[in-house]
Amino acid sequence: MKDVELDTTKLPQHVAIIMDGNGTWAKKRGLPRNFGHRQGAQALRNIVLFSNEIGIKYLTVFAFSTENWSRPKEEVDYLMRLPMEFLRSNEKEIYKGNIKFLCIGERDCLPLDLQKTIMKYENETVNNQRMTFIVALNYGGKDDIIQAVNRLLQEGISKIDNQKFEEYLYTKNIPDVDLLIRTSGQQRISNFLLWKLSYSELYFTNVLWPEFNKKQYIKALCEYSERDRRYGGIK
Ligand code: IPE
Ligand code: IPE
Ligand code: MG
Repeated sequence: MKDVELDTTKLPQHVAIIMDGNGTWAKKRGLPRNFGHRQGAQALRNIVLFSNEIGIKYLTVFAFSTENWSRPKEEVDYLMRLPMEFLRSNEKEIYKGNIKFLCIGERDCLPLDLQKTIMKYENETVNNQRMTFIVALNYGGKDDIIQAVNRLLQEGISKIDNQKFEEYLYTKNIPDVDLLIRTSGQQRISNFLLWKLSYSELYFTNVLWPEFNKKQYIKALCEYSERDRRYGGIK
């Protein structure tokens, strides 16, 4: 692949990624699926650090969907352990990189040690300002909207506008997604950030997530920089 020049003046403010293809990557090598997830965590580390380096302000990654509970227990258990290992092993880089960590999704049914780890890193990075790194865990776009509606009802609020509604979403205070990347060739949203994706640019690549590297990422960012965003208007 030819090297492409990245124009850092035209970067998306918020990149969201559906990190797909870990299982396929492992299968291709005759390895158990969890090896693919482990390799995927390495890819993620590189993308987080590079995003921070080039000045992406928000990076949201889909780590576990509300539908992923239907996978075999061994895989679900591993996917619940991986975020803790990821945070612990990248702790220094997160602090040094001035990265704020956030988790979105229904966390009450996550294992207790994972809930505690999430809280620890959210609290310790609350004042970090360079980039916000958001992990969607037990997240579903429909669930997000429904929990917001339920909270509004509980508070007796009967009329809202877009702005007010956003305050009730898990993604409160996070801007709309500018660029959505999905790896591994599937072209669907899989119940990711439904509300925040309303006007996002979509980028699909056949590359499997464990193989998604800086070069692949730059290619996606360059394509984004050439997109003509119209928001319903004309130019
Ligand atoms: C994405 O990779 C990771 C998660 C969904 C947690 P997959 O595990 O979905 O990999 P494929 O799609 O089976 O290749
Ligand atoms: C989406 O990938 C969820 C995550 C990447 C965490 P899936 O592999 O679960 O999506 P489908 O099943 O192919 O739609
Ligand atoms: Mg998949």
